[in-house]
Amino acid sequence: MADKKFEKNLLCIGAGYVGGPTMTMIAHKCPQYKVTIVDVLPEKIKAWQTDDLPIYEPGLLELIKLCRGKNLFFSTDVETGIKEADIIFISVNTPTKTFGEGAGKSADLQYWEKTARDILRTAESDKIIVERSTLPVKTAIAMERILSLNEKGLKFEVVSNPEFLAEGSAIKDLEKPDRVLIGSKENESGIKARNEIVEIYANWIPRDRLITSNLMSSELSKLVANSFLAQRISSINSISALCEKVDAEISEVAHAIGKDSRIGDKFLNASVGFGGSCFKKDILNLVYLCETFGLNEVAAYWESIVKMNEYQTSRFVQTINKAMFNTLTNKRIAVFGFAFKANTSDTRETAALYVTQKLMMEKAHVVISDPKAIKNAKNDLKNYGDDIEFQEDPYKAAKSAHAIALITEWDLYKTLDYTKIYHEMEKPAFIFDGRNILDHEKLYKIGFEVYPIGKAPLIHFKEG
Ligand code: UDX
Ligand code: UDX
Repeated sequence: MADKKFEKNLLCIGAGYVGGPTMTMIAHKCPQYKVTIVDVLPEKIKAWQTDDLPIYEPGLLELIKLCRGKNLFFSTDVETGIKEADIIFISVNTPTKTFGEGAGKSADLQYWEKTARDILRTAESDKIIVERSTLPVKTAIAMERILSLNEKGLKFEVVSNPEFLAEGSAIKDLEKPDRVLIGSKENESGIKARNEIVEIYANWIPRDRLITSNLMSSELSKLVANSFLAQRISSINSISALCEKVDAEISEVAHAIGKDSRIGDKFLNASVGFGGSCFKKDILNLVYLCETFGLNEVAAYWESIVKMNEYQTSRFVQTINKAMFNTLTNKRIAVFGFAFKANTSDTRETAALYVTQKLMMEKAHVVISDPKAIKNAKNDLKNYGDDIEFQEDPYKAAKSAHAIALITEWDLYKTLDYTKIYHEMEKPAFIFDGRNILDHEKLYKIGFEVYPIGKAPLIHFKEG
């Protein structure tokens, strides 16, 4: 099947945050393969063909420029892509279901199944199918069942290869991953298919980092990895609430416990709450899975991670409201950062959206600022029409504001001239640091009323 110039034809269905960077790295590291990425959205594919990519990911454009048109191609022609491919990676989105059985928890697999049926209808040769999207356990088996319905005598082997990329560092994570996990059925054909995928990654990743397992372990590991990471954040956030009451500082507690090598120091930054397309969705997926098997205590344990996250975000808004004399009506509040974390334009499940909605309910005048996510923010907030202001420039956003609510930990916010900002704000000037990235003492000395996370506020005016 492979184009004669190339050893293999690799196709990826779904040109999103996962598919785009993953396949670009493969194309970059493996010039012997032809890599094609297809998507149903023509405007997205068009953007991938320009230098104005549909997603912002540091280092991605540079790599794309090296391979695009040589062994990396973007197209909307899904059918031709399927016909020509030896190996098909699937990274279509799998959002949480919003309707019917499992609504609010289980994954909506409609795009996934549609993709399986597209392959079934179009394929003319045997193929390895790689599930790259995060999916409920046993989805690979379901896909294999659909694909086995073909009457053309074709063989499809489904392999699970979950992504562990974090946005903002996807290129680094792809180039030097902690591990790559490849799961398959453990019979002869399954192992043969999985070895083919191992060989792709072995082009640049040391073999001891290429882990193999059975299909179900691989699928489950993805959900569990994200649930464990989110669990650490909810744990530290829960303690941040306590710190505010007992005069402890969450950063000191995190530092002290993180030094224990059994605990480790990563993912212990207390925040306004975790966001992103994965954590909540994957935990809820795990919860649903446990409930399906009657493991209600296990389900409740993991669900509490999501509840703690929601609590942390609503606590942040309550702090704003309480500090500002229980009225936000007509007060200008500059939201610093709308992306769900720094170095990405992605706003899916961002705490900023929840905070903004709450502030709007209080009739505040909200101004959103972000260096990369304004476009997505405008889309997320389109229901508010002109009631919300957008200012990429943080100085303009903060001008005449009563408060700044810092939601995203962009480096840029650490180095602003806060003296200048303070002088242009209404007084008392409040700053709520939802990421603990600012120099709180310094801000206090400038004159701000400073509200960190997990640390007593620094306020000039004390009651009584
Ligand atoms: C990924 C994973 O695939 C998902 O399982 C994970 O949990 C979150 O991250 P992501 O790449 O972030 O998804 O999603 P997105 O950026 O929305 O990209 C998916 C792409 O698939 C979209 O561009 C969409 O247009 C495309 N798509 C969807 C198809 O090409 N065909 C379809 O049938 C459905
Ligand atoms: C995550 C996983 O890290 C990745 O392995 C998986 O493949 C996809 O999901 P991502 O969602 O891109 O990646 O971002 P991540 O860096 O994990 O951050 C998730 C959220 O947690 C962000 O909102 C981030 O700001 C927040 N966070 C992270 C904290 O609040 N505190 C921390 O200490 C770390």
